Amino acid sequence: MDKQIKPESTVETVKKRYLFFGEKEVRGRCPIYEKLALQIAADLDLISLIATFPKNKRQPNLLLASLRKFFKHVPSFQEARALMLDNPEPLTDIIFSHSTQTNEPGRCATLLPLLCQLPQPLALLEIGASAGLCLIPDLYNYRYGAELLTGAPAHPEFELACVAGAGVSIPKKLPEVVWRAGLDTNPLDINDAEQRSWLEMLVWPSEKARLQRLQASIALAAEEDLHLETGDLHTLDLEKMISKAPQDATLVVFHSAVLSYTLETKQRDAFAERIRTLTDYWVSNESPVLFSSFGCDRINERPGSDFLLALNGKPVAWTDPHGASIIAVDHSTDVQAASP
Ligand SMILES: C[S@@+](CC[C@H](N)C(=O)[O-])C[C@H]1O[C@@H](n2cnc3c(N)ncnc32)[C@H](O)[C@@H]1O
Repeated sequence: MDKQIKPESTVETVKKRYLFFGEKEVRGRCPIYEKLALQIAADLDLISLIATFPKNKRQPNLLLASLRKFFKHVPSFQEARALMLDNPEPLTDIIFSHSTQTNEPGRCATLLPLLCQLPQPLALLEIGASAGLCLIPDLYNYRYGAELLTGAPAHPEFELACVAGAGVSIPKKLPEVVWRAGLDTNPLDINDAEQRSWLEMLVWPSEKARLQRLQASIALAAEEDLHLETGDLHTLDLEKMISKAPQDATLVVFHSAVLSYTLETKQRDAFAERIRTLTDYWVSNESPVLFSSFGCDRINERPGSDFLLALNGKPVAWTDPHGASIIAVDHSTDVQAASP
């Protein structure tokens, strides 16, 4: 019998996205978001409404942060439902004028083992930098089990803690960064109170330690006068930024939690091809589903929502999306094999 595969409807896709968020991303981390996301997933009226939003405005994180911003607290399901169905404009105004720009300095703890193995000193160019909090990996304190690395001696209370699994090369010292710059379609300014508040809103409620970490990181970054430019990674903006990097340092172009905002597989694959021609060191820390040339074939190795850290398209480690853990992919994070 001829079996015809019916394409999934937008409503089904959105429903799955909210289920995944509730069951995989926030489960065990944020019970209030887990409950709300699953209630929304089960409500056909709400899912149908979200399915009418532009494709890049349907993410659970964006909707939930916007609800929080509107209500000034996490609303109950009934409150959220009434607003969305009876009077959605004030909420959609927030959703359409903001985006998910979660800036998670904790991710530096999972980038560090790789950055420290590259020829020093480094020139760091972050694509999709948000407010630039991942651009100062040399200025944080880190704790990997009993190992402590100190980049911010004046702030001993502030540590990025990360559980490093077997095979992870824990750095002995911090990288030397001589140049840093960020590119983003909408760079956020940590000196702007409204933009700072949006960054805080994107941290899941109940994650108090994460919020404190964000605030401490903002205070550190404020001392640095970070160079962030507006630009799109899919255009020549990237080449322009790269041309500004100094010649006498190792240029590392990196990104984390960015390529999921490029919705077309073809476009992501084109980026993966192009970036290899622009730099000798391309570090990607993204969901494995995003790259068909590497990553997609490994999806079943890790249940949950871990990112895949890769150097020049070669998988190196599984990383917690907020930087809490790193596990070597093939027994070791030694990068020699992945170097150009
Ligand atoms: C979730 S945030 C991640 C921020 C930071 N990389 C981190 O790990 O904390 C994603 C960022 O990527 C930016 N972005 C998305 N698509 C982009 C594109 N095509 N070009 C440049 N930046 C982009 C967004 O504006 C947003 O600030």
